[in-house]
Amino acid sequence: MQNKPQIRVYSSRTAAVQAFGAAFARAAERAITARERFNVVLGGGNTPRDAYRLIANEHVNEIDWVKTHVFWGDERMVSPNDPESNARMARETLLNHVPIPANNIHRIAGEKDPQQAADEYHTEIERHFRGAAPRFDLVILGIGADGHTASLFPGTAGLQETTRYAVANHVPQLDTWRVTLTLPVINSASLVIMYVLGEDKAPMIQHILGGGEGETVPAQLVKPVGELMWIMDAAAGALLKA
Ligand code: 6PG
Repeated sequence: MQNKPQIRVYSSRTAAVQAFGAAFARAAERAITARERFNVVLGGGNTPRDAYRLIANEHVNEIDWVKTHVFWGDERMVSPNDPESNARMARETLLNHVPIPANNIHRIAGEKDPQQAADEYHTEIERHFRGAAPRFDLVILGIGADGHTASLFPGTAGLQETTRYAVANHVPQLDTWRVTLTLPVINSASLVIMYVLGEDKAPMIQHILGGGEGETVPAQLVKPVGELMWIMDAAAGALLKA
């Protein structure tokens, strides 16, 4: 039985960023108190930038970074120094500014062949969880205007994966390959935060959360065994009824 999603709409972008930072720090504290470890999957794209900067500035001392392990929900097939790289974005906004050991950063090798990068990432996750089924404490996801999440785009093969933890997913919409976490891993999380800002996402938020009918999009397949929390600003939630 899935928990009912928590939907939090904040009056401003700043309030949503602050709320996300506080939720991140709370998740870290809860996990480290319980098991001396915080396994977190970072979201990519642009939305999380301000929140990662805020965590580095305002929450850095609340989190035991030596006990924190960082993974990614997906990666573009580019070098880690490419402006498109999700790893670069997280490094520039967060990881270069907190005392996290290099060995605690588990990057997807975007510079490699997609299948090789996916297989290596699957193995890294398997090793990290010592062969047990992975259960991340926090998975951070965004959504695209088409309802994709991580790099699980509508109609792509990655959506069908039921055993591998990560796959190379061809995205015809972008004529490119991505490496992405798969739904079984995402849905095994203790907490998934869907973090969405901006009016361009309002129609898709309405589609997903407005109780409407219509085609199921990938973001609607995120149904974690733990908690699902939506954190958004009023612009993204503008079409939702009160
Ligand atoms: C990526 C992301 C992707 C992202 C959405 C939203 O690599 O692009 O993981 O799922 O979260 O596309 O992107 P924006 O935050 O840039 O709108």
